[in-house]
Amino acid sequence: MKAIGVLTSGGDSPGMNAAIRAVVRYGVKNGLRVFGIERGYCGLIDGAIKEMSFASVAGIMEKGGTILRSSRCGEFLTKEGREKAAKNLAQYGIDGLVVIGGEGSLTGSVVFHKEFGVPVVGIPGTIDNDIAYTDMCVGVDTCLNTVIDAIQKLKDTATSHERAFIVEVMGRESGYIALMSAIATGSEAAIIPEVPVDFDQLAARLLEERKRGKLNCIVVVAEGAGKAEDVARKISAKIGYETRISILGHIQRGGSPTAFDRLLATRMGVRAVQALMDGEKCVTTVLSAGKIDVLDTEKILSTKKQLDLSLYEISLMLT
Ligand code: F6P
Repeated sequence: MKAIGVLTSGGDSPGMNAAIRAVVRYGVKNGLRVFGIERGYCGLIDGAIKEMSFASVAGIMEKGGTILRSSRCGEFLTKEGREKAAKNLAQYGIDGLVVIGGEGSLTGSVVFHKEFGVPVVGIPGTIDNDIAYTDMCVGVDTCLNTVIDAIQKLKDTATSHERAFIVEVMGRESGYIALMSAIATGSEAAIIPEVPVDFDQLAARLLEERKRGKLNCIVVVAEGAGKAEDVARKISAKIGYETRISILGHIQRGGSPTAFDRLLATRMGVRAVQALMDGEKCVTTVLSAGKIDVLDTEKILSTKKQLDLSLYEISLMLT
């Protein structure tokens, strides 16, 4: 292995820059040429490829977003697009790739590897934390801290006005962000795609708390489980709180990464380059029991990550 490429793909997540920095610096220190590919798989197809150096990644660890920029690349879903990408890699003499992204990006890496034999190591970077076999993905911790900060602020105004807030957070397929942020803020409920919700029961519980003298009410809803507006409509009349909604949106994907995400991204970046140098063909870095390892990407993708539902029980018990 003489030259490797690194790209960020799909929805960005805080810590991607720390991963890029680690890949570039560990690669260069080990005698590899390292190329940065811009705008994910689209840049691979368009040839937006530039050589990176130890110095070119200075001062990026603390930055949100991704200096390589990202995209959800429709053209990479076509055989012609992937052929162009493979040609570009060959032209630059790149013989291994690091792909930082979520499920769709890792799926692309498997298809590309199978078609053209290019070794590809994935780094799970997504705020959704929906990749199996890894306890955490890069960006999740920062996202949770952002969400918690926002909910805490909403709680202040909710208490002042004795209101309920329905807070919609990201998570098209997964309730992880909603559940964890609800627990960490002592919110009254998390509505998540993994658990069907009985609105009558929920309203009865919230009403009970109102009667006990509770001055606010926070319900966190994962976007994959419904819209804040609909939830508000279904429960506001029943609970006796004036209700407002707040959709946190893409602020959840921004911001300077936390210490946890910087460390996770750095460790995974180093491990990804090691894997390429060791001759791995199609693996993804994972955090398991405190250790960074690599696992077959197809195996990871064929398993649906299960939300730990004992945490859902905890969320119900403590408010
Ligand atoms: O990054 C994952 C995710 O945040 C999902 O939870 C969300 O539905 C989606 O990305 C939205 O991304 P975009 O607006 O970039 O398509």
